[in-house]
Amino acid sequence: MDDVSREPLQILVFSASLRDDSLNSRLANLAARTIQSIGAKVDIASMAEFDAPSFDADVEIADGLPSGAESFRERLVDADAFVICSPEYNASMPGVLKNAIDWVSRYSPQPFNERQGLLMSASPSMIGGNRGLWALRVPLEHLGARIYPQMFSLAQAHQAFAADGSIENEPLRERFVATITDFVDLVEAATHYPCIKKEWVEYLGQRPDPSIDRVERA
Ligand SMILES: Cc1cc2nc3c(=O)[nH]c(=O)nc-3n(C[C@H](O)[C@H](O)[C@H](O)COP(=O)(O)O)c2cc1C
Repeated sequence: MDDVSREPLQILVFSASLRDDSLNSRLANLAARTIQSIGAKVDIASMAEFDAPSFDADVEIADGLPSGAESFRERLVDADAFVICSPEYNASMPGVLKNAIDWVSRYSPQPFNERQGLLMSASPSMIGGNRGLWALRVPLEHLGARIYPQMFSLAQAHQAFAADGSIENEPLRERFVATITDFVDLVEAATHYPCIKKEWVEYLGQRPDPSIDRVERA
């Protein structure tokens, strides 16, 4: 896809691990390099920047939204799309990530709504953390994000990286690059040639009531 001339795109990339030697942070850095190499701009963030106290509606009323949630919102709004490399904890997403999503869901307009997202994971296990991504898809799609159908999970990730940070196994490396390239193509099309319009309604199934509705039309 090197011959594609791209309009400028900005993509937020972050790992949902707080750990220094995180496998998901290595995957996020590789994703960032790959995105830059195919002509889009990257804003690389860390989970620590979006960390916030456990969601508490009383705290929200008393103190407003915490700084981690505000950073997350700003970085999403500045981006055309986002890539999350998330660890799998007990077959789901890490609590720190779900907590950050819950805080950000309190903003209106909702920053996930209409935003394209790609989910990736890395784990020492044979399944690569893929079950956690299916769990992560649920709140993000609920909030209106357009999560790319294909996901990438790096199995046995503790042995998968070469010294230069790339993926050692060639077919896997090619699949990783192809997944990102196809996603960036879609983001470019969706950003510059929007065609699908939809309405995001929080709490589907609730009786319509203008006093409490959170509905955004695009
Ligand atoms: C509380 C906890 C639960 C975990 N559950 C899973 C799991 O369900 N599936 C899995 O593949 N790995 C699981 N792991 C192992 C993580 O995938 C592994 O620690 C990984 O390196 C974490 O990602 P990071 O390196 O980016 O921090 C778990 C680790 C922890 C600490």
